[in-house]
Amino acid sequence: MMNREHTLGFPDGFVWGTATASYQIEGAVTVGGRQPSIWDTFSRRPGAVHNGDTGDIADDHYHRYREDVGLLADLGVTHYRFSLAWPRLQPDGKGAINADGLDFYTRLVDELLAHGIQPWVTLYHWDLPQALEDAGGWPVRDTAERFAEYAAMTHEKLHDTIAHWTTLNEPWCSAFLGYAAGAHAPGRTEPAAALAAAHHLMLGHGLAVAAMRAQDSSSQLGITLNLTPVSPATEDPADVDAARRVDAVSNRLFLDSLFRGHYPDDLPADVAAISDFGFAQDGDAAVIAAPIDFLGVNYYFREFVRAGTGAPAADPHARAWVGSTDVEPVRTDLPTTAMGWEIDPSGLSDVLTWVHRDYGPVPIYVTENGAAFDDVRDEDGAIRDNDRISFLDSHFRATLQAVEDGADVRGYFVWTLLDNFEWAYGYDKRFGLIHVDYATQARTPKDSARWFAEVTRRNGLAEPLEVR
Ligand code: FCB
Repeated sequence: MMNREHTLGFPDGFVWGTATASYQIEGAVTVGGRQPSIWDTFSRRPGAVHNGDTGDIADDHYHRYREDVGLLADLGVTHYRFSLAWPRLQPDGKGAINADGLDFYTRLVDELLAHGIQPWVTLYHWDLPQALEDAGGWPVRDTAERFAEYAAMTHEKLHDTIAHWTTLNEPWCSAFLGYAAGAHAPGRTEPAAALAAAHHLMLGHGLAVAAMRAQDSSSQLGITLNLTPVSPATEDPADVDAARRVDAVSNRLFLDSLFRGHYPDDLPADVAAISDFGFAQDGDAAVIAAPIDFLGVNYYFREFVRAGTGAPAADPHARAWVGSTDVEPVRTDLPTTAMGWEIDPSGLSDVLTWVHRDYGPVPIYVTENGAAFDDVRDEDGAIRDNDRISFLDSHFRATLQAVEDGADVRGYFVWTLLDNFEWAYGYDKRFGLIHVDYATQARTPKDSARWFAEVTRRNGLAEPLEVR
């Protein structure tokens, strides 16, 4: 008989962390020489963000980082994934590094190290300097060059204290939500530009990896992708083809270019009416496919789709599927989070084993997974978020399943440390292990924070799960 405690333990040295992003938590948008990012601009556009919320103050983490690192330490994590704000470090997207910006991240890193927590940075989590968007943004090739310059400049200053460097967070969102669906900054709805943006994001990634590798061959370099298993709603060949198309533009565009050195063979035909990939130059594919040390995987939900009729899909979500915007997402009857996202932990084990099988071997880290729920504060002030605990528990089990199935999964970062600015949803959606009262900036660990601290302490799960 199998030893249950054993099967619920994670491998020795498993990385446990939480993840955040600069624009979602920092606030202080005009402090220390920071200039506007595309999210400062977009969030001011009427109707773009729920309730007209902006990241102006957010969690005021810029001023409260010491308290936040203390709370993080209480979780017993080994690592903390956070992003560097490009508009803080290089406010206009070009020129010398901004000393005040560098000073903030140096202090943050020192504070983390003093608590025995290893920093894990993301260079770009969506806050493009507005000056670069004014010059054309990601659809323009020069933005890739600018990104590599920013990466090299920052890495040169911080590589001795930061081992893990992630170039981009979820380039699919930057390219297709930002430039095709218009749901994210900069809010453009230009499908051809979105494909060019995807290419230049990946080129920027490759150029940044080369530059950082040359500076310090011991740095651990990678990228984070949001991966979504896409399945047809029925076995009808038209639905099967719709799933193939969505998978190509959402997942394989990124995975194939990184690990196989070319875009998916089927993609050009799917988007032929929109783009001839004239933006891709000789040599780009090799730059993008430069070896990486790890792949970050963000997983939130899986997707079921059915073929469209040629007319734009009713669901605005489909606007991001360039070349296939008539394909309809199909709901299942699974329970959902406050985002309306279906809760399906099997999608996480599927993604991890699929990446391992088709693109590995590669060290994989789950760099984001978590859930928003409509948290309730009880009269005693406690937030008994058992739904979040159940969500995390089931996804930790799914991760373990993938490990048992052979995937080289080495860590897991919960999204997220603190309730924060959830992009177009503003402050309406709460993903944090720690509750934030935005009127007072008071932080209150939720029950899930205490539960997570037990998991990290044990490096494993208890059997049975105490809540539900
Ligand atoms: C991901 C983002 C992250 C957060 C979560 C909920 O797509 O990377 O910033 O918004 O979704």
